[in-house]
Amino acid sequence: MNDATPIVVANHKANLNWQDLEKWLQSLTEVGNFKGTIVVCPSSAFLKAAAQKIKDLNLSVKLGSQDISKFEQGAYTGELAASQIADICSYSIIGHSERRSNFSETEDDLTKKVENAKAAGIEPIFCVQSETDEIPQEVTIVTYEPIFAIGTGNPETSDKAAQVAEEIKGQGEYQVLYGGSVGGENVKSYIGTGKIDGVLVATNSLDPVKFLEVIQALS
Ligand code: PGA
Repeated sequence: MNDATPIVVANHKANLNWQDLEKWLQSLTEVGNFKGTIVVCPSSAFLKAAAQKIKDLNLSVKLGSQDISKFEQGAYTGELAASQIADICSYSIIGHSERRSNFSETEDDLTKKVENAKAAGIEPIFCVQSETDEIPQEVTIVTYEPIFAIGTGNPETSDKAAQVAEEIKGQGEYQVLYGGSVGGENVKSYIGTGKIDGVLVATNSLDPVKFLEVIQALS
């Protein structure tokens, strides 16, 4: 997949209820002339309804899941198989640091998740904490998200993020995003380096006004 850059991913994590998300999507009708790609990753509870809403509002917004199962369909209680969401999701975040730490996801698990996503036609957005983290084969979009910068208001410098992006790109044909305390006030500094193809925004994606500030800074 070669979607237009910059790619801006909104990761809502386990936040917002359906009423909030409906309003959030409604507010994206004000996106204007943004030339990149917007990906929204809401709670999996709302994927189907969000897909319908995006269609109804005719939004230029792609849908992604925040995770995907390492298993395909079968007796795996609580899991979300790639093939169950392939008709509505274009992307899947895989290997977010919160999944790795809170759910003990291993490199092996992440490789299986990537394989399942790709087999279902879903593009993985693969998260790493440094340029030395393993990246499974078939991944084309990598997000550099240093843990100290996530949800702290203490972002990585754009110089360092660009350096890491360059090192990751030295390992293969990757589009590299940066995630960690990104907002409307600093997003341009990352994209402006010319090495970073997009951003993953969590905290500042929850309030649609703040998220639109990120988009507007790049428009
Ligand atoms: P944040 O999270 O935008 O809240 O810092 C980023 C991330 O989860 O990668």
